Amino acid sequence: MNFDFNEKKPVVVLLGAGSMGMAIVRRIAGGKKVLLGDISEQNLEKAENDLKYSGYDVETCVVDAMNRESIQAFAQKAAALGNVMYFIDTAEASPSQASPEHILKLDLLGTAYALDEFGKVIGEGGAGLIISSMTGYMPNDLTKEDELALVNTPTESLLSLPCLSSERIKNSGTAYVVSKRANHMRVQSAAMTWGKRKARINTISPGIVVTPLAYDEFNSEGNSYQQMIEASARQRVGTSDEIAAAGAFLLSDDAAFITGTDLLIDGGMIAAINSGKMKMNIR
Ligand SMILES: NC(=O)c1ccc[n+]([C@@H]2O[C@H](COP(=O)([O-])OP(=O)(O)OC[C@H]3O[C@@H](n4cnc5c(N)ncnc54)[C@H](O)[C@@H]3O)[C@@H](O)[C@H]2O)c1
Repeated sequence: MNFDFNEKKPVVVLLGAGSMGMAIVRRIAGGKKVLLGDISEQNLEKAENDLKYSGYDVETCVVDAMNRESIQAFAQKAAALGNVMYFIDTAEASPSQASPEHILKLDLLGTAYALDEFGKVIGEGGAGLIISSMTGYMPNDLTKEDELALVNTPTESLLSLPCLSSERIKNSGTAYVVSKRANHMRVQSAAMTWGKRKARINTISPGIVVTPLAYDEFNSEGNSYQQMIEASARQRVGTSDEIAAAGAFLLSDDAAFITGTDLLIDGGMIAAINSGKMKMNIR
């Protein structure tokens, strides 16, 4: 059965077929070709069915975002499907889900791989979006020099930076904070290479958004989510759809002058920290 006789459709790529990524895809992918990548075959199958039975044209691919060859093959598969005009990366692990080494390899290095490889195939006028986190705004011990190194160091040497050594990154919480800050920094250098292809790349930094990943954090020992939610300006969690609304804007032509930057969407949690209404202990 053919539901769509259009050829040469723009390609929307989602790496990490989870809650927020799927909400963004649903907003932007009508009439386009969708390629979903995830390490979990189970998540991929569910995501594919969700889209397929809602009228989207979707393909899937098992990808390990921690492995450059895997990302490279994924980018090539996307390019073979048509003009890659949208790239969204949400493939990450949170502090309660993984070790510091795993978080640095996935959230920091894996994002850098994706920026490199999709920067080679993104189409003219295309746009990318990395989902970072409000933790990128939380207190950390990165100096100005460390941040500059996170912008400019070649990807393969990133994990050898002194600021990412095990002496400095002692636990998963710190690994997550630093990785998410690194996403902000890395997108600035990527904006320059993507710009050469007349494409844009930005990050969104969500606060607490209720997804499976967030539930893992709520259930983890010693977390301070209740206090954080209560202290925040909006006094509630966010939804994937609220992140998707902003994501759709950043990926659209209305945002054609926006690149290399981050949009913090956290219901005022960082505002509560910066205004002294809430103290933050990074686990
Ligand atoms: N949920 C929150 O409260 C929250 C807050 C701030 C930031 N974030 C960030 O938002 C993004 C998306 O989070 P979500 O809540 O939608 O998560 P989610 O758990 O729904 O989705 C993440 C997806 O990434 C996939 N994945 C994990 N490791 C992978 C790998 N090595 N290769 C490929 N895929 C892999 C998982 O299988 C999963 O499908 C993440 O970057 C997360 O750090 C989430």
